[in-house]
Amino acid sequence: MTNAELPLLGGARVQLRMLRAADVPQLYAQFSDPKVMRYWSRPPLMRIEEAQTLFEELDRGVRAGEFAQWAIARHNDDLMIGSCALFAHQKAHRRAEIGYALAHAYWGHGYAVEALRLALDYAFSVLDLHRLEGDSDPRNAASIRLLERLGFVREGLLRERWHVGGEIQDSAIYALLARDYAAASISSAANSSTVNSSTAAESARHA
Ligand SMILES: CC(C)(COP(=O)(O)OP(=O)(O)OC[C@H]1O[C@@H](n2cnc3c(N)ncnc32)[C@H](O)[C@@H]1OP(=O)(O)O)[C@@H](O)C(=O)NCCC(=O)NCCS
Repeated sequence: MTNAELPLLGGARVQLRMLRAADVPQLYAQFSDPKVMRYWSRPPLMRIEEAQTLFEELDRGVRAGEFAQWAIARHNDDLMIGSCALFAHQKAHRRAEIGYALAHAYWGHGYAVEALRLALDYAFSVLDLHRLEGDSDPRNAASIRLLERLGFVREGLLRERWHVGGEIQDSAIYALLARDYAAASISSAANSSTVNSSTAAESARHA
């Protein structure tokens, strides 16, 4: 990825936009919540200063073109309700990984599927990916439902791959191919989404 600034991606109810310093309280609320962090690749944040540091790391990485990192924000008040990232982009192989989380208060409303469709459109059209991968703890039922709803196919299980807070976790590996995404007509274009040129851009089990 080489874009120092990412486009704003607009859906029906949410948009993907660049993280801002003003989002640090929401970033902290999200990544300090044990419910959100149960299957993440790192333990919950303990201090707001860690969220400030995380914000600075993510912002630097986006501006350096290392990954795409968006806040998922509500259209009506621009409040950050989650995060979504495309990372581990291997240009030569046209593949990357996707990561996502919503603050717990916003689970169960379809916001994640809407936000990920925007990110998938970007991944397959703008980045021209051939393959997008998702890594989910096999016990993370909500995450697996989300991936499968979007057409991701489970390809295998990598055993004991993460050490988080004293627990060893497996990875269920999912992937979506560009041709399957196109064929399934699950593009957010069908949901009246738009891409504009405003600026904006986390991480999976990987913030
Ligand atoms: C993974 C995660 C983002 C999924 O969030 P979610 O709220 O379940 O996903 P969605 O926003 O797509 O909502 C889908 C649910 O909302 C319901 N829903 C309600 N209104 C809806 C609407 N208008 N449109 C679509 N779905 C709607 C759906 O029926 C669905 O429920 P179901 O899963 O019980 O069938 C969330 O569980 C999370 O943040 N987990 C912690 C972080 C994490 O583990 N990330 C993955 C690391 S790999």
